Amino acid sequence: MFKPAFWKDRRVFVTGHTGFKGSWLCLWLNDLGAKVTGYALEPPSDPSLFELARIHELIDHRMGDVRDLPALEAALASSEAEVVIHMAAQSLVRYSYAHPVDTFSTNVMGTVHVLDAVRRVPSVRSCVIVTSDKCYFNEEWVWGYREDARLGGHDPYSGSKGAAELVVTAYQNSFFDNERHPDLAAIASARAGNVIGGGDWAVDRLVPDIMRSLLQDKPTLIRSPQATRPWQHVLEPLHGYLMLAERLYADRHQFSSGWNFGPPEESERTVGWIIERLYALWRAEFEWERDRSLGPPESTFLKLDASKARAYLGWRPKLDLETTLTWIVEWFRRHQAGDDLRDVTLSDIHRFMAMPPRG
Ligand SMILES: NC(=O)c1ccc[n+]([C@@H]2O[C@H](COP(=O)([O-])OP(=O)(O)OC[C@H]3O[C@@H](n4cnc5c(N)ncnc54)[C@H](O)[C@@H]3O)[C@@H](O)[C@H]2O)c1
Repeated sequence: MFKPAFWKDRRVFVTGHTGFKGSWLCLWLNDLGAKVTGYALEPPSDPSLFELARIHELIDHRMGDVRDLPALEAALASSEAEVVIHMAAQSLVRYSYAHPVDTFSTNVMGTVHVLDAVRRVPSVRSCVIVTSDKCYFNEEWVWGYREDARLGGHDPYSGSKGAAELVVTAYQNSFFDNERHPDLAAIASARAGNVIGGGDWAVDRLVPDIMRSLLQDKPTLIRSPQATRPWQHVLEPLHGYLMLAERLYADRHQFSSGWNFGPPEESERTVGWIIERLYALWRAEFEWERDRSLGPPESTFLKLDASKARAYLGWRPKLDLETTLTWIVEWFRRHQAGDDLRDVTLSDIHRFMAMPPRG
């Protein structure tokens, strides 16, 4: 089970802390009493949760590129971190078609650099590398991918996340083997589903696109209403990453492998269903529209099987999809009302922590 006390005064190095998930994670870690160092480029959107929640006031905020190994290693060494959570990435599928070189260099070589720095910084005991559900070769299966499914990826983003998984396995076998190198950190990778929540303003992501249009009273243009995705509130995978980092720290032998953190089956809904529910919860007085322009190909089915995390980490999702969407609408309503978004986000974190796991 998740142990908040583990994080008190724990030194944690988070890459990608200026992004959507990174901002939620830094607020949560800071609230738990951890000493957080963040390493990332500028926030990837404007507005951003990082700026709205004034996260730079709470942590040791470093601007840096994961493609710059000396700078990354120096930042990690000076942080004296015990736990590393690597989330920095070019995270957008559509952007990856226009910028494949950037995407591969950040997502693949960035991961190489993090792991290479970790093996030379002795303070690090546990390291979680965040990849994606898109690391799997999409077979258009109607059932969920397990951790041993074939890796792959049709587009540059998905391919880069599959490649990052291969990097983790090679580093695990070559440098972090528990038997031969008991002094080195324990490493693992984490694959989450389609993460949604307040404070995401990424371009070409479904929920930010919907919330932007609702805030502007304009219909949303939707490309693939029939596509099914494993939707989950941002706090669900972050909860999984924290549990995994804790377990790696305590028992490196059992947990150094890949882990899926996906939602239960009833949260695997179509894009069309999500937009209908968000429009209803917002009480929108207009309809969304179908975008019929020819975009890059998109898969129809994508599901994750999280049985391993349930069985061995005791991780279970807490929020059903209706509650997740309700929290998102509430978050953006409070943003619209001009409320303090650090308080708003922290109150979601507190109510999430107080909830029991489902199932
Ligand atoms: N949001 C999702 O639905 C989702 C789903 C599965 C996996 N993921 C993964 O989770 C992680 C975080 O996702 P997110 O939604 O917060 O992404 P985001 O785009 O909001 O944030 C990305 C972060 O990475 C940083 N970054 C980008 N390139 C960098 C570079 N070269 N050097 C240093 N920092 C760099 C950005 O500054 C930002 O802090 C990513 O690895 C992403 O691939 C996200």
